[in-house]
Amino acid sequence: MTSVSERPADAPAPRATVLGGVRLDPSELHASVSDPCLTAMTLLNDIAGRHPDAVSFAAGRPYEGFYEVAALGDYLSAFERHLVDELGLGPEAVRRTFFQYGRTKGFIHHLIARHLAVDEGMAVDPESVLVTTGCQEAMVLVLRALCRDDRDVVLAAYPSYVGFLGATRLVGVPVRPVAEGPGGIDLDDLAEQIRRARADGLRPRACYVVPDFANPGGVSVSEADRRELLELAEREDLLLLEDNPYSMFHGGEGRLPTLKSMDTGHRVIYLGSFAKTAFAGARVGYVVADQPMAGGGLFADELAKLKSMLTLNTSTVAQAVVGGFLLKHDCSVERATVRETQVYRDNLRAVLTGLEKHFGDDGPLRGSGVSWNVPAGGMFVVVTLPFRADDALLARSAERFGVLWTPMYHFYAGDGGSHQIRLSFSALSAERIDVGIGRLAALVADRV
Ligand SMILES: Cc1ncc(COP(=O)(O)O)c(C=O)c1O
Repeated sequence: MTSVSERPADAPAPRATVLGGVRLDPSELHASVSDPCLTAMTLLNDIAGRHPDAVSFAAGRPYEGFYEVAALGDYLSAFERHLVDELGLGPEAVRRTFFQYGRTKGFIHHLIARHLAVDEGMAVDPESVLVTTGCQEAMVLVLRALCRDDRDVVLAAYPSYVGFLGATRLVGVPVRPVAEGPGGIDLDDLAEQIRRARADGLRPRACYVVPDFANPGGVSVSEADRRELLELAEREDLLLLEDNPYSMFHGGEGRLPTLKSMDTGHRVIYLGSFAKTAFAGARVGYVVADQPMAGGGLFADELAKLKSMLTLNTSTVAQAVVGGFLLKHDCSVERATVRETQVYRDNLRAVLTGLEKHFGDDGPLRGSGVSWNVPAGGMFVVVTLPFRADDALLARSAERFGVLWTPMYHFYAGDGGSHQIRLSFSALSAERIDVGIGRLAALVADRV
């Protein structure tokens, strides 16, 4: 089934015939249950589910062409050998590692630290790494721990990743939007939003930012702006939540240093994910939380206390598989994802070529008011249309034209992006992209 979100489309539940007994009122439940931020994806998945043959630029899922079931066994074996040969574990301890309840902070923290050293030049204390059930759990834990009371707010560059916005709703933390331009987060607006929040008697705790090929905007922050952002965070006594699922998928001109690698004052809480690099179904992510606590220990230890009441430990089997994946590639995720990176580069080129062909200076729809950004990598392009692009238009686009995309306004929590759509090109072939952009052009031609 095709799905709009990064997540699978849940099968529509059969409607139960209620004869009597308890009936729950949504208005009696936590506000997040009815929050548009959470319900939007279900709605979009419904549309996608009804049109499985449409070309889907909607799902932000990684490319599936290189997955092999046999590789999972190889990864498990590689991790088992590591436990025996490198860590000196006996057979009983090995069995326990795979099958028992595990260490709350995880047991591949040292391999993640190695990966961050190899790929990002980051010297990370393995004890500051908490392995989580996807990056999603890390976001929930960090938000829960950082925000103490009603005065606490977080800031986020808008448009923002829907998983982060959803996490804030779950935890009940208000988000103050910060503008995003072609060069990523607008630093002047960040300073202004901090000032306004304080003037309103609020305590801005942290700012969430995806500096590399952001989802959904596709934009990246320059090295100079990264430096300035760190300086601003220092000046304003603000933490930065750096989320980095996409930096491996650069366009070929190399990667910029992560904020965390430039962070000398423990200002950055670094969120990582193996969803796009190893595989999403493993649900393995992590957070580097090296902030020292006043009473001793690290912020990672405080997060572990919360995790012990949420998921106890990240699946041991999933950790072992991801551990083996890292070991097989000498802990270089960049080397492990060479083929995927090439697919994403080719697909980005196919999207841009297709848009140019139909809407560019020599295209049949030139002058129709369609424009788009040109990201340097990642998985997303944003197209601006000369008309409203909402869920109703998406339904029509799927039904009449056989093409799916994501309305951008969902990533602004309803306050912006009304004429923009996100094209996600990661899970498609270049041929399907060509067909899909043609269908998008037919939709535009129909509307203008
Ligand atoms: C910005 C961002 N952060 C994190 C993730 C990955 O989260 P997880 O590891 O929970 O799948 C995604 C995936 O879509 C994303 O786009």
